[in-house]
Amino acid sequence: MDGSVLARHTGHVVSAANLLDWYDRHKRDLPWRQGVADPWQVLLTETLLQQTTVAAVLPHYARFLARFPTAEAMAAVAEEEVLRLWAGLGYYARARRLHAAARAIAASGFPADLEGLRALPGVGTYTAAAVGAIGLGLPVVPVDGNVERVMARVARIEATLPGARRAIEAAVTTVGRQQAARERAGDFAQALFDLGATVCTPASPGCLACPWRDGCGGRDIAERLPVRAPKKRRARWFGVHFLLEDAAGNVLLRRRPREGLLGGMMELPGTPWRPAVWEPEEALSAAPAKAAWRMLGTVRHGFTHAELEVTVLRAGVARIRAPGELVPARDLAQAGLPSLMLKCVRLAGLARP
Ligand code: ADE
Repeated sequence: MDGSVLARHTGHVVSAANLLDWYDRHKRDLPWRQGVADPWQVLLTETLLQQTTVAAVLPHYARFLARFPTAEAMAAVAEEEVLRLWAGLGYYARARRLHAAARAIAASGFPADLEGLRALPGVGTYTAAAVGAIGLGLPVVPVDGNVERVMARVARIEATLPGARRAIEAAVTTVGRQQAARERAGDFAQALFDLGATVCTPASPGCLACPWRDGCGGRDIAERLPVRAPKKRRARWFGVHFLLEDAAGNVLLRRRPREGLLGGMMELPGTPWRPAVWEPEEALSAAPAKAAWRMLGTVRHGFTHAELEVTVLRAGVARIRAPGELVPARDLAQAGLPSLMLKCVRLAGLARP
């Protein structure tokens, strides 16, 4: 019966049980797949994986799990401590919201349903479904980029994203209703992730190895699906940051405002970032000291919506009086600097990996 519903929607039938059989034999060996899923640990994992590849998370995972095995463990530390550990992973608002979620969970317990999950800071539709399925066994299917691609192909959805999302959602819902998918909701979600990451890949899908090859409606045009609207060019922004050192070998850092890009992270003092280049005179009004500033170089850094070009100036003074934190230059690698700022201080040969 379930299959015929999918057929009516899409003209094609795929079996959740087939995908689960494939998953049991071919699933990736990932550190968060050991033992029984703990809901908090699933929330931590899925938050780490937001906007990031599995490969980028792997080197950090054990450290996070060891430091924050429970919501209570994260709730007990200051936000700055979470940000320090998150340094280099990007999208720092995730870290601050996860910390707020940990405090809510420590106070009121872990939510038992999707609505309760959605009410947590930083938990949107995707994360609620992922944690619901993997952590709580709720019969829902999280739709990330991998799942979107797999389902657009299986159901041969040729409409352009993001408009195609509703049709993709409908196809996902239909497959997710099959009994096998409901009974093993967490495995089904992760099977879809793995199928998308290892077989139904963007450029050269491995259809011969696919457990869904027979029912797939888009096999002949798989590498062209899903169809995306052409990307807009990212805006270009400019900023100037100042590397100020004192005679004792300290570097001046400050904390960025909580709101906005790199919110709450440590940085070299600098100008705001804006779409126009800074004239030297104008930029120097943001310098943390009157000094003989020398140009060290420029670094580029990509954010989701903009490409930032930062000019780094360097100077030394006997004593630093400007507000901020003085960090010994040799400790900069451990100071919780985001990648952009690491690139800046590395121009001076500091914080080498
Ligand atoms: N991407 C997002 N969540 C994932 C998970 N639990 N396993 C593998 N890839 C993922």
